[in-house]
Parts: sequence; structure tokens; C-alpha cells
Amino acid sequence: MSSGLSGLDVMLDGGFNRGRVILVLGEPGTGKTIICSQFLHYGAAERAENSMFIGMNEPKSRFLKEMLALGMDFARLEAEGRFRYIDATDVRKIPEQARVGRIAVGGRELGLVNLLETIQDAIAKFEPARIAVDSMSDLVFRFPSVDERRPVVLDLIETLQSSSATTLLTSELLSTGEERLLQPEEYLAEGVLLMRTLRKGVRTIQILKMRGSKVDTHPRPYTITGKGLEVLATEEVY
Ligand SMILES: Nc1ncnc2c1ncn2[C@@H]1O[C@H](COP(=O)(O)OP(=O)(O)O)[C@@H](O)[C@H]1O
Ligand SMILES: [Mg+2]
Repeated sequence: MSSGLSGLDVMLDGGFNRGRVILVLGEPGTGKTIICSQFLHYGAAERAENSMFIGMNEPKSRFLKEMLALGMDFARLEAEGRFRYIDATDVRKIPEQARVGRIAVGGRELGLVNLLETIQDAIAKFEPARIAVDSMSDLVFRFPSVDERRPVVLDLIETLQSSSATTLLTSELLSTGEERLLQPEEYLAEGVLLMRTLRKGVRTIQILKMRGSKVDTHPRPYTITGKGLEVLATEEVY
């Protein structure tokens, strides 16, 4: 399945394998939301595939406006029935001491259960071929330790794998540098894309892992302009 970015497709040796969950890992501002949008927009506009965005850090109106500025008209795709925006920003707002009826429950666990149900529901009703979840970090920030984070990430990934959709799942990079700590989601996802900004503002994307595919594992430069994100698959990074 085409990623919607021709340069990234070259790196991927054609595109993503269908049905996989791919992690998009990067620092803030590297273009994770934009890459998800191009992936969904391409599917909906060029392939007539149902595409669904699960937004955890911005309301729909802001998403539509920002993507329109980059040439992607998701409001039109929504009107045509090809696109759905699931506003999951409420997950972060559930207080630590929550209640279901009279019963006191942990707010962070309730948020997780609600979200997974929302996703399952939306998948059953809309049957998307492409899903983006942006960003996982807004869900798991309440589970800071690796031991707590791991089962949460596993539940989320299993929920997404239970559909036949191909999914991009974004996550904030927690540490940088050569000896950075690997995050649990890197082990659990079937593929990992790493987006970084180097010194002097050079942006690079690298495929760290893509199970079952022969891919280009070199970091490659990319640019972001008013037309979106473009991967320069044949250029080297110095
Ligand atoms: N028209 C544009 N021209 C150049 N850069 C842009 C444009 N629109 C957005 N960007 C860049 O895109 C980045 C934001 O992308 P986004 O996908 O929101 O990042 P992330 O989701 O990783 O935080 C910012 O660094 C911004 O500078
Ligand atoms: Mg973002």
C-alpha cells in the first residue's frame, strides 16, 4: 500500500504491507502529524479507501484548518464519506479520581478503556483501510514507567491489529543521541519510522524496522513546504 509519499515509497521498496501497525517516532515539530495526513489523504482521495484520523492532541477544526493550509481538503473527503476524524482529546482531561456511577476508578485506566472502545466502535462502523493515531504520547503520559507503559501500548497496538487497516501510530521521542533508550512501542510495532531534525535544521527520516520487507535503512533528508512533506529518497545525509 502506498504511503502517499513517493520518496518514502522508494525507501519502503513500494509501500507498507497491508494490515500492519507502523510507529512514527519523532521530536515535536518534525512532521509526524503531516506524514499521517498525507498517508490518509492519499488513500481517501486517490484510492477511494476509507481513512480515519484519531486525534488525541487537537480538535477537529484545528486539524482541518492546518491540513487545508498544506493543500489537503479533509472536509471535502469527509463530506464524500471517505474520511472520519475521531476527536479523542477528552482522554487527557479525565481527572485522576474518576467515577463510573458511584464507583471510584482510576482516571488514567478509564481514559484508556474509553479510547480503546471508541476505536473498536469506529473500526466496526467505518471499516477503514487506513488509520492514523496521533499521538500515542497523549495517552500514555500518565503511565511514565516502562513497566506501566508496556501493557498500555500492547493493548492499543492489539486493538489496531484486530482490524485489517494499515495504521500509523505516532509517538514523541523521549530521548535523543546515539545511546537513546528504546521505547516499548518500538519493540511492539511491526515497523518504525524515525524522524529527526539535525544541526542546521536538516530533517531526516529513517526506517529503523519494517518486519518482512527489504527496505532502505539509511537516514534520508526530507523537506516540509506549503505542499507538505517530501522525502528525498536518493539523497545522502552528511
Ligand atoms: N507551510 C509550511 N512551510 C514550511 N514548514 C511548515 C509549513 N507548515 C508546517 N511546517 C512545519 O511542519 C512542522 C509541524 O509538523 P507537524 O506534523 O505538526 O509536527 P509534529 O506532529 O511532529 O509535531 C513544523 O516544524 C513546521 O515548521
Ligand atoms: Mg503533531
